[in-house]
Amino acid sequence: MHEAVQHPILQHKLSYLRDKQTSNKEFRELISEITMLLAYEALKNVELTPVTIETPIASMTAQRVTHDIVIVPVLRAGVGMLNCLCDLIPTARVGFIGLYRDHDTKLPVEYYVKLPPVANDPIAILVDPMLATGGSTIAAIDLLKQEGFYNIIIVSIVSAPEGLEAVENAHPDVRIYTAAIDDCLNDNKYIVPGLGDAGDRIFGTT
Ligand code: PRP
Ligand code: URA
Repeated sequence: MHEAVQHPILQHKLSYLRDKQTSNKEFRELISEITMLLAYEALKNVELTPVTIETPIASMTAQRVTHDIVIVPVLRAGVGMLNCLCDLIPTARVGFIGLYRDHDTKLPVEYYVKLPPVANDPIAILVDPMLATGGSTIAAIDLLKQEGFYNIIIVSIVSAPEGLEAVENAHPDVRIYTAAIDDCLNDNKYIVPGLGDAGDRIFGTT
């Protein structure tokens, strides 16, 4: 299942994110703002636990998120989405999956994995701004499932249709939230129109 989140504020911010004139600083800020808006939508079905609290006026049963949530950025570019998610869900635990796309084959190469232990059926939120061929997302989901994470939500900012299809074929159980489904991939497997190389624009490595 995938959902393209169409909120006008999100689409407005995305237009600046895509613009090649946008500075690295603004790009990082926009990544955070867009991630917050996507995560708000992605977590709309998260379970709530009733808790009794005292307002200054009366006692009441209020609702709190107590579900174990693990945020998993895909290195490098996913790191740009991490801080804002920690602000949104301060109780979340964090894991890291390091993957890069080989320049020739365009296939993901794993170089680092550090995930928290699985307990209490956690929700894993896998974050990476770009879902191009889908190879990196599929590899990251494979790793999460090997470690016992089965309740997985993907938050990607820009996706290619062929990548979405590949991820959904490989892992039909995951839910994908994205701000845009673009036209296609070019010969270098970059998303068109896309936004270029997300990691380079976040970290200023162009
Ligand atoms: C980018 C991006 C994804 C991947 C998407 O990372 O952040 O992880 O490519 O492409 P795919 O869907 O075809 O696998 P990259 O390999 O450029 O590494 P970086 O984040 O370290 O720059
Ligand atoms: N990785 C990126 O950063 N951008 C793309 O368009 C594809 C892969």
